[in-house]
Amino acid sequence: MTLAAVVLYLLLLSHQTVSEEQVQLYVIGEKGENTTLQCLHQPVNMSSVLYQWKKDGAVVATHNPSNPSEHLSILNNGSLRISGLLYIDEGLYTCECQTKKDSSWQSHSNIQLKIAGGPTNISLDIRPATRLKNGTLFVNKSSDVYFSCSSESYPSQNLTWTVENLAQDNPDRASGNTLPLEFSISKIQPQDQGMYTCASQNTLSMTTVNKSQELLVYYAPERHPECRWEVGNEPSHVLFICTWIGGYPVPSLHLQEVYEKSVIAKGPTINSSQETERLEYRVNRHILHDKEEVKCTGHHVTGVEKYCSFDLHIPYPSGDPLVTALEGSTITLSCSETDAFPSAKTVWKKMNDVINNTMKYILSENGPTYKLTIINLTKEDAGVYYCYSENPLGARELEVILTVKTSADNGGAVVGVFVSILIMMMGIVVGVTVYSKRDKICIGLGFSRLDDDRGDILSLVDSDEEEIFNDSVPQLPPLTNGHATTLVEIHRIPSIDHDDTADSTEHTGQAHPDQTEAAHQSEDC
Ligand SMILES: *[C@@H]1O[C@H](CO)[C@@H](O)[C@H](O)[C@H]1NC(C)=O
Ligand SMILES: *[C@@H]1O[C@H](CO)[C@@H](O)[C@H](O)[C@H]1NC(C)=O
Ligand SMILES: *[C@@H]1O[C@H](CO)[C@@H](O)[C@H](O)[C@H]1NC(C)=O
Ligand SMILES: *[C@@H]1O[C@H](CO)[C@@H](O)[C@H](O)[C@H]1NC(C)=O
Ligand SMILES: *[C@@H]1O[C@H](CO)[C@@H](O)[C@H](O)[C@H]1NC(C)=O
Ligand SMILES: *[C@@H]1O[C@H](CO)[C@@H](O)[C@H](O)[C@H]1NC(C)=O
Ligand SMILES: *[C@@H]1O[C@H](CO)[C@@H](O)[C@H](O)[C@H]1NC(C)=O
Ligand SMILES: *[C@@H]1O[C@H](CO)[C@@H](O)[C@H](O)[C@H]1NC(C)=O
Ligand SMILES: *[C@@H]1O[C@H](CO)[C@@H](O)[C@H](O)[C@H]1NC(C)=O
Ligand SMILES: *[C@@H]1O[C@H](CO)[C@@H](O)[C@H](O)[C@H]1NC(C)=O
Ligand SMILES: *[C@@H]1O[C@H](CO)[C@@H](O)[C@H](O)[C@H]1NC(C)=O
Repeated sequence: MTLAAVVLYLLLLSHQTVSEEQVQLYVIGEKGENTTLQCLHQPVNMSSVLYQWKKDGAVVATHNPSNPSEHLSILNNGSLRISGLLYIDEGLYTCECQTKKDSSWQSHSNIQLKIAGGPTNISLDIRPATRLKNGTLFVNKSSDVYFSCSSESYPSQNLTWTVENLAQDNPDRASGNTLPLEFSISKIQPQDQGMYTCASQNTLSMTTVNKSQELLVYYAPERHPECRWEVGNEPSHVLFICTWIGGYPVPSLHLQEVYEKSVIAKGPTINSSQETERLEYRVNRHILHDKEEVKCTGHHVTGVEKYCSFDLHIPYPSGDPLVTALEGSTITLSCSETDAFPSAKTVWKKMNDVINNTMKYILSENGPTYKLTIINLTKEDAGVYYCYSENPLGARELEVILTVKTSADNGGAVVGVFVSILIMMMGIVVGVTVYSKRDKICIGLGFSRLDDDRGDILSLVDSDEEEIFNDSVPQLPPLTNGHATTLVEIHRIPSIDHDDTADSTEHTGQAHPDQTEAAHQSEDC
């Protein structure tokens, strides 16, 4: 009974003592750690003193060797040791002493124990991002990136996001004690790339823990890859160059041949892959084939894929295969080469000789058009000229046949004109004569036959021309571009050119006997 009263008294007493003014010391312990609370202001002579510790007014530890506690224990000098601190250990601790002279407990030390926990489990979340093998994250340029950080801390924490990067204007991006701590960057740019750190500070223990994440801003090149070629050091080699510049990190380039569905790859082929902005590939021209496609595909880690390609084409020079000119004049032969890829070297040849710029020949080049001007034509200039075009895939040539008409031919033409006028006049005379004898029925028939005979005149001219060309056209060389077949067309060209004054007058002259014969026939009837 008396014991209970004493306890009650002590409780009341301790209640009075638990006022803020009497708190002598703050002790902060880390959760899970061990701590020792000192019993200060003890009587000078400690040899015969008993101790007990109260927590928030209740006795929690006494000197009782028969009942030792793992968690709370009183050391010989009166200090209270707490091992494995828990949050529930927070409170106001009081040390009490009892001397042998005085059996009452004297309070000597008030200690406010606070427990701090953490920060632990600090975690970062950066979205949307992709993790690389080495743990670094990357995001696409211009994407909106969201950053979030959280940690566990008792009783509270202060979080701070900082960034170390090129911009460096202000490393602090966000700070506060809300959980999680978030911020975002809209349309992220390359200069935002850097080391993002979230630091969490325990507001009680001031312990700081931080966690960092390297963030890269990736972007694919904006344009398409560029496909180029160059002639290699040796003329039999071609260098294909594919470049795709302006991306980060460098893309991977893949160069390969694409065959038409029906064609099956034979022998060595182009096949090269590399992580680079510029891929060079040297090939021997013998492995290249007409109408093949060489394709360069660029892959970027952001998922972008673009390509460029070469369509290989053997040269195909084209132009007018037949040219006629007057002796003494100047003529320009023209040829154009638009098909060839890689681009061709085009030259004019006479027989097997390459024509160079001289007093006689003027060579000119205007884009895909190659012109050969021959000055002061002579009979010797007549013949076959070749527009010879060659690229790594092969060579082809256009044949141009130049016919030179002499001034003597022109003299003949003048005579021809005179003769034709004569014939016309004779025709009129015959006509008038026939008209005067119109009682004869077969007049119309006679004139219709005359028309038919004119047709014969034309075909006669054609066969005549054919002979001329057969004389001047040498055998075709084996390597031609298919224009060889145009020789068949060439035969028809003169009949189209029939309006040409020189030609028509000349032929009219040759036709003279037939026409007069026709006139005679009509008269005979
Ligand atoms: C706390 O004390 C116990 C013994 O009581 C010991 O085993 C343990 O390692 C100590 N812990 C720390 C964190 O010092
Ligand atoms: C402390 O007490 C012991 C006996 O209890 C005594 O022998 C000693 O002299 C005392 N010391 C002081 C400094 O009073
Ligand atoms: C009591 O003993 C402990 C451990 O031996 C020590 O850390 C502490 O400082 C001592 N306290 C006093 C008041 O001497
Ligand atoms: C915090 O981390 C510890 C170990 O590091 C783990 O056991 C615990 O589950 C984590 N807590 C949370 C909420 O993630
Ligand atoms: C991780 O890899 C990327 C690309 O491979 C590189 O740019 C970055 O520097 C690497 N980071 C570290 C920390 O090694
Ligand atoms: C949190 O930390 C930042 C930077 O360390 C500081 O500027 C800020 O005042 C702190 N906030 C609080 C509530 O402690
Ligand atoms: C992060 O913590 C380490 C030590 O753990 C310190 O050296 C570094 O400066 C801290 N970084 C930031 C940004 O607080
Ligand atoms: C290209 O080469 C790679 C290996 O370097 C091979 O796996 C692939 O099948 C080749 N492609 C062709 C079309 O030969
Ligand atoms: C980047 O953008 C491409 C499309 O432009 C997308 O396929 C890819 O998943 C994106 N990557 C990341 C990490 O957002
Ligand atoms: C044209 O010039 C080249 C060298 O420049 C020469 O080899 C060739 O024989 C010349 N052709 C003629 C017809 O002179
Ligand atoms: C044209 O060639 C002839 C014969 O070779 C020559 O007599 C004449 O002077 C030349 N005319 C011109 C304008 O060069």
